[in-house]
Amino acid sequence: MRTLKLASLTTLAAGVMMAGSALADPITIKFSHVVAENTPKGQMAEKFKDLVEQSSVGDRVDVEVYPNSQLYGDDQVLEAMLLGDVQLAAPALSKFQKYTDQLQVFDLPFLFEDMDAVERFQSSETGQKLLTSLESKGLLGLGYLHNGMKQLSASEPLRVPEDAAGKKFRIMTSDVLEAQFEAVDAAPLKKPFSEVFMMLQTQAIDGQENTYSNIYSQNFYEVQPYITESNHGLLDYMVVSSASFWNGLPDDVRPEVEKALDEAVAYGNEIAAQENQEAKQAIIDSGKSEIIELTAEQRQQWVDAMKPVWEQFSDAIGQDVIDAAAASNEG
Ligand code: SIN
Repeated sequence: MRTLKLASLTTLAAGVMMAGSALADPITIKFSHVVAENTPKGQMAEKFKDLVEQSSVGDRVDVEVYPNSQLYGDDQVLEAMLLGDVQLAAPALSKFQKYTDQLQVFDLPFLFEDMDAVERFQSSETGQKLLTSLESKGLLGLGYLHNGMKQLSASEPLRVPEDAAGKKFRIMTSDVLEAQFEAVDAAPLKKPFSEVFMMLQTQAIDGQENTYSNIYSQNFYEVQPYITESNHGLLDYMVVSSASFWNGLPDDVRPEVEKALDEAVAYGNEIAAQENQEAKQAIIDSGKSEIIELTAEQRQQWVDAMKPVWEQFSDAIGQDVIDAAAASNEG
């Protein structure tokens, strides 16, 4: 009888514990980003949320997506992550300079001929190793996410490098991007993404560089009458989390969250080119901004003016990393 009582008490206790764990507060993943929802990153974040919800850990993990710098701007999000206030972000690769110099390879002007080359480099041994370049700072690189190639937008037509001389351009927080604009005698200003529209509208700056997707979704095209299709640089992202959060996820939860993230990133990468193409078409249809196509000779002038920047950063980035990235153009 006593044995029976003890057994039922044990069963009861186990039941209470199980109910307790099922009822435990869900794990919250705040995903903070700075772009609109109708961009490759915005859609990837929503996809991730949906996939987690549909997964076997959907009742234990809550994903909250904060687009458009609603929660943190790109100048604060990594610090917030290290403090545990944000669990996931995908800043542009140009925004990690405070943590590592190596990722600046992605900013070198005219390095990648197209997105296939970018894809090859990112999945190469060197590219994968760069995902670990933030680990000593407590951040885990969980994958690369594409946006696409950047174009130059401005208040006046930019056809040759001399057209940019003396003009103010907003840039992301990267010394390579600063050097790139200095190479054409322009004046670069490092500013958060959330301030760009206002600065363009008030003519505090003359231009900026971005993908069609961002130029369209942030309405830059409404206040920039010219866009030069330069494809001079890359705007891609690294999906990051803090090592303490990610490694601290329960062992039965982390694989499911990882799976959802991998699928969402693959989805974002799949739609990025199409998103940029649609944004370009929408800009053309608006009639508000003229898209300037460079002749081969004009484009070569930009290459000649900007490419010396590679040399300036070879020590900081590592010549081996630059060589590996350049080799990805060979297919
Ligand atoms: C982003 O796409 O996340 C923002 C890019 C920028 O700051 O220009």
